[in-house]
Amino acid sequence: MDAITSTRPLDRLADFPAIPGGWAYLDSAATAQKPRPVIDAIARAYGETYATVHRGVYQRSAEMTLAFEASRRRTAEFVGAAAAEEIVFVRGATEGINLVARSAFENRDSPYFLRPGDRIMLSMLEHHSNIVPWQLIAERSGARIDVAPLTGDGRIDLDAMAAMLTDRHRLVALAHVSNVLGSVLDARRAADLAHAAGALLLLDGCQAVPRMPVDVAALDCDFYVFSGHKLYGPTGIGVLWARGELLDAMPPWQGGGAMIEKVTFDRTTYAPPPARFEAGTPHVVGVIGLHAAIDYVAGIGLDAIAAHEDALVRETRDALSSLNSVRLFGPDDGAGIVSFAVEGVHPHDVGTILDESRVAIRAGHHCAQPLMAHLGVAATARASFGVYNGRADVEALVRGIERVTRIFG
Ligand SMILES: Cc1ncc(COP(=O)(O)O)c(C=O)c1O
Repeated sequence: MDAITSTRPLDRLADFPAIPGGWAYLDSAATAQKPRPVIDAIARAYGETYATVHRGVYQRSAEMTLAFEASRRRTAEFVGAAAAEEIVFVRGATEGINLVARSAFENRDSPYFLRPGDRIMLSMLEHHSNIVPWQLIAERSGARIDVAPLTGDGRIDLDAMAAMLTDRHRLVALAHVSNVLGSVLDARRAADLAHAAGALLLLDGCQAVPRMPVDVAALDCDFYVFSGHKLYGPTGIGVLWARGELLDAMPPWQGGGAMIEKVTFDRTTYAPPPARFEAGTPHVVGVIGLHAAIDYVAGIGLDAIAAHEDALVRETRDALSSLNSVRLFGPDDGAGIVSFAVEGVHPHDVGTILDESRVAIRAGHHCAQPLMAHLGVAATARASFGVYNGRADVEALVRGIERVTRIFG
């Protein structure tokens, strides 16, 4: 293999105590490893400053509430929200999408609720999290789902989508970055197309937020969701951003403590957003850890992270395309993610042999079975990058794949 020379190093490996020397962790699209500042923030929140939020009358709880709401403001600033109240803390992207589906589109008290014959536009490359919630409510409402096709190199084909959109479409829901192909959506154009048809646009930002600057105002989308654990933060915490007037009009989706204004057995009234959508004791420490994660990536700079991962993707694709036995999926300029297949070898075997060489990749359908069917494969192998990866990881991956091809002849 030729030496790989052009990676722009971020040199952040030392921040990540769970990545031992010589281990190439190439599964950040599934979940990112945690940097020391995030681990420390979580340890401090449980070990020194812990209390519940919003309810306590004592000093500790008041301080934790301030920290909790500071995280909401930081998150709002991070994604370009107009106000902290537009940030709803959820368990993850999956819960954020289900919240929008159930509250905005299924509930009859919502101005956006779906009627029989209404349509939802998805795409062929969506994660199951951005398919199944819509199928569940389509079945119940009589709405129909359309699927935008992909271009030959694996992008959502917005020209084709434009031709498919009708005035019965109420929602377009698309991945900002594909978790399998790395393809980056022209989100602004998707917003223009959705809005021209009278539909709202939801962006699944799970794979975009860790890899590129995101500004929901510039994208002109209506809903944006992401998961903290893919952004170097804790599991169990995620974010739904929605335009303020949408949240104002959306009814509650789960009932319980913290989301009410007044409860009587005759009639209950609800708190304004975001509390209306945050029933029960929240993931207090997750929210604190998310703040630390946002500070961490912002401290590096999302532009620098994007440039770093672009270089790693380019080098990986260049090196793998020189191996005859390897088939690459997706566009050459995918963000941080490279899916591939080794001819005649099941991706699980590729993953197992790479693991023997201390290279951790994901092998499987990546929760995107319709995309696998479209690609004509049951599974792919996927390498995905983070701020801790560098040239040595790409070289280890390529050496490992060369070993796979030797073993399988
Ligand atoms: C594009 C995309 N959407 C949604 C999800 C679901 O995220 P979570 O399981 O954190 O809710 C993932 C996670 O793999 C993803 O990559």
